Amino acid sequence: MRSWFFASILGIGLSMAAQAGDDIKVGVVLPYSGVYASLGADITDGMQLALDLYGSEIAGRKIVLITEDSEVKPTIGLTKTKKLVFQDKVDLLVGPVASNVAGAMRDFVHNAKLPLIIPNAGNNLLTGEKCSPWVIRTSFSNDQINRVMGPWLYEQGHRTLYLMAPDYAAGHQMMDAVRRGFVKAGGEVIGEEYPPLRETKDFAPYLAKVKATGPDALYVFFAGGLAIQFVKQYHDFGLKTEMQLTGAGWLTSPLFLPAQGSAAKGFTGALNYVPTIDSDENREFQFAFNEKYERIASEFTVQGFDTGRLIVEALKITGGETADKAAFVKAIHAVEFTGPRGPFRIDPLTNNVIQDIYIFETRQVGYSIRHVVIDKIPNVQDPPNGCVM
Ligand code: BEZ
Repeated sequence: MRSWFFASILGIGLSMAAQAGDDIKVGVVLPYSGVYASLGADITDGMQLALDLYGSEIAGRKIVLITEDSEVKPTIGLTKTKKLVFQDKVDLLVGPVASNVAGAMRDFVHNAKLPLIIPNAGNNLLTGEKCSPWVIRTSFSNDQINRVMGPWLYEQGHRTLYLMAPDYAAGHQMMDAVRRGFVKAGGEVIGEEYPPLRETKDFAPYLAKVKATGPDALYVFFAGGLAIQFVKQYHDFGLKTEMQLTGAGWLTSPLFLPAQGSAAKGFTGALNYVPTIDSDENREFQFAFNEKYERIASEFTVQGFDTGRLIVEALKITGGETADKAAFVKAIHAVEFTGPRGPFRIDPLTNNVIQDIYIFETRQVGYSIRHVVIDKIPNVQDPPNGCVM
């Protein structure tokens, strides 16, 4: 049995003072296989680009990424986290993508007092009731993206909504967020479906129920392989002419659009980034990413990129010092910048990012399908939601 396993049981071996010249080890727990594999790859590439651009060596210490595959499985995510901490002795952690994996990692990281920067998983609890001084999120909370859409859809004239999302923490939290705002505005949720996260290959039975119910709009959250499959089947079912397809904006991410093609047309979503944001920062970022990786950067890439930039800027403040974890987190709170998605800063009250949220429509522009921004809600900040640091 490996020594890190014994250390894990005994709860020892967490803090070893770094020497000048030692590498700064960043343990990365992301999915490189399973339903969210492409998201993990985009986040990693974004982080690597940030290190290239903002500095991969601070005060003589090289920043190195040690990556582990979470497989989108909570127990695997936690095991890999422990391996990175006890065996590789990482200075900080980055990950994961999925809310259920984040939930499994939270207590270990909190007790270890090791900074964990979340570049995707939106689990509300981790910056709410179960917040921790050591858990910082650069991406979004599930509530932050979706709660703006309830009142917005009502204002657009929709009065009945059907909800659909994978059956795990993120799916339920997102649907609860949109329901709250929509019902408060006067609308009604007339049906909901939660297909399994990993096993769903066919949406036909769910789409048949939606068709029979006939809501004004169908509000969904799907990402990864599920998003590609769902959009194609929704199109084939011919529901487009009967109701508005809307939801959390990952559904038509630039990561999935090439596989979805024109089936993605007409979707309306909310997200923290779309590639069409009209700013110099975004244009420069897309140019640099395209030069290195020869593809369009997605919102996941941006979250990885901003995570990498945040780490570099915080390390510049601490002079490359990582032994004092509280000083590192304090430095994180001091970092502010305008990046590809707009103004970026971490809220010290919850450790969740404060950011603009974009409402867009996926439209055909010329020969390509593009994200056309139709509304923007600036500086969206989560309330503490029970968070006491
Ligand atoms: C989540 O599990 O939190 C999540 C996964 C993919 C996209 C957005 C959120």
